Amino acid sequence: MKLEKVFEKNQEWIEKKLSIDPGYFQKLSKGQNPEILYIGCSDSRVTAEELMGLEPGDAFVHRNIANQVIPIDSNINAVIQYAVEYLHVRHIVVCGHYECGGIKAALEPSDMGQLNSWLKTIRDVYRLHRKELDAIQNAQEKFDRLVELNVQEQCLNVMKIDHVQRSWYKTKLPKIHGWVFDVRTGKIIDLKIDVEREFNELISIYGLNITEE
Ligand code: CO
Repeated sequence: MKLEKVFEKNQEWIEKKLSIDPGYFQKLSKGQNPEILYIGCSDSRVTAEELMGLEPGDAFVHRNIANQVIPIDSNINAVIQYAVEYLHVRHIVVCGHYECGGIKAALEPSDMGQLNSWLKTIRDVYRLHRKELDAIQNAQEKFDRLVELNVQEQCLNVMKIDHVQRSWYKTKLPKIHGWVFDVRTGKIIDLKIDVEREFNELISIYGLNITEE
């Protein structure tokens, strides 16, 4: 792809938007009020808005390798705090995807330099669910299951954050959802993780005892 093409495509997009609504960009510049915070993988095949059929302004987006929510990552902490405290998003979606390179790399021990520490938390997910994963004979099924379990653990990591607990205590929002995008079919699969139930089991460990201010 030639990069010049990007600017041509951009111009086409502007014209298309304006032909439907001449005030489109004027409205867009007024501010954002997204209902969803989407946390997904950086993988080029797994776009955020396009696969959900969303438009600019619909979703606040954070992407990193293997859609991880790492508590000491100040980037994701800032994104979540802003989304919860200022944008008041109603939903936080953690969306993994099958055939995720980050998950695959974590399954295959090798020294990947800078990536080692990033992949470590996926290996932690493996360790937490080792019994279940090691019982799966088929390598593809095991790979797929680790993708799903990683989503589940990252949903729980969202719940461990103080801003999220504070908001939950007051409003029971945002709702947290774990999804997997199947790159083999294009389908988004809702893992139907009962984050509230999962978290209640762990509250004695991760609850921050946040009371109403
Ligand atoms: Co990925």
